[in-house]
Amino acid sequence: MLTQAITPNTAYEFAADVRAGLTKPRQKELLSKYLYDDVGSALFEVISHLPEYGLTRADERLLRRHAHDIVDRLAPPVAVAELGSGSGRKTRHILEALCSRQRTSYYPIEISPSALAMCQRELRDIDCISILGFEREYLDGLLEVAAQRAKGQNLLVLFLGSTIGNFDRLCGIKFLTEVRHILQPGDSLLLGTDLEKSSAQLLAAYDDELGVTAAFNLNLLARINRELDADFNLAQFEHMARINHEARSVEMHLRSMRRQTVNIPAAELFIEFLEGETIWTESSHKYSPSEVFLMARTAGFRCAAQWIDEQWPFAENLLIAE
Ligand SMILES: C[S@@+](CC[C@H](N)C(=O)[O-])C[C@H]1O[C@@H](n2cnc3c(N)ncnc32)[C@H](O)[C@@H]1O
Repeated sequence: MLTQAITPNTAYEFAADVRAGLTKPRQKELLSKYLYDDVGSALFEVISHLPEYGLTRADERLLRRHAHDIVDRLAPPVAVAELGSGSGRKTRHILEALCSRQRTSYYPIEISPSALAMCQRELRDIDCISILGFEREYLDGLLEVAAQRAKGQNLLVLFLGSTIGNFDRLCGIKFLTEVRHILQPGDSLLLGTDLEKSSAQLLAAYDDELGVTAAFNLNLLARINRELDADFNLAQFEHMARINHEARSVEMHLRSMRRQTVNIPAAELFIEFLEGETIWTESSHKYSPSEVFLMARTAGFRCAAQWIDEQWPFAENLLIAE
């Protein structure tokens, strides 16, 4: 796989974002995209295999079962772009279904170089595809893919695994609207959305018994130590998952187990934590099936089909740009 990488001031941007997030007046916070360095991407891959985390298996079941139906609804020729591909494991079903009718260009867009490399290893045996990876933020990457499209070619954008849920509801619609603006009428977006389920099921999924999700979350502090020379004592923070009923989301936090100060030289920050104070690191919003139709319409798409898994409430939605 070819990869187009750019690394403009990433350490500087990371330091600035850490500084901005940890100095917020009411709730300290860190952007969830920073969970995915090499260690974070590897841990996320493990999470996707955990018995408590049914989301990835539901997504994969739907893709395996309906890939041909999905592909048959798209006007050829189609190129595929994927936002936040991760390992690309589930994408195989769509690419193989497309291969039965055409050679396919596949463009994974990822901020994590190691996830992009995993994606290449995972999919390189499919011989009717060419892969060009973009180490970029979602919309920057999608703009580049759209600029490269051949005349008459339709784009299928994949946004799987309910990564949309990391945005709050309004930002999610704004993001889909921005994606729509990059696309042309007739292009499509295959959107995975995790559906509402019991609090017990959600808390187990985001705080598993083995502690892999805890390690994934704590790795963010370890990353700040590694890349910004900070002195977070990881033993003095603990992973927490909690339900936000009003937002209909699960939140991940890192809770300070005692009063402490942390020095982050590269962010020019010396920061105090009270006992019990938390850093909010990720939200995963959950949806109702009908809400997805409304979100799609507000963003300029028509929801042409929705498939729901029978074992784990999760919906795959095929949205067509109008
Ligand atoms: C929740 S994981 C999902 C991975 C995969 N799509 C799946 O369904 O298993 C989110 C992925 O998006 C990537 N990512 C997060 N924020 C991003 C951003 N702003 N731009 C590009 N990629 C991003 C992460 O590196 C990670 O691989």
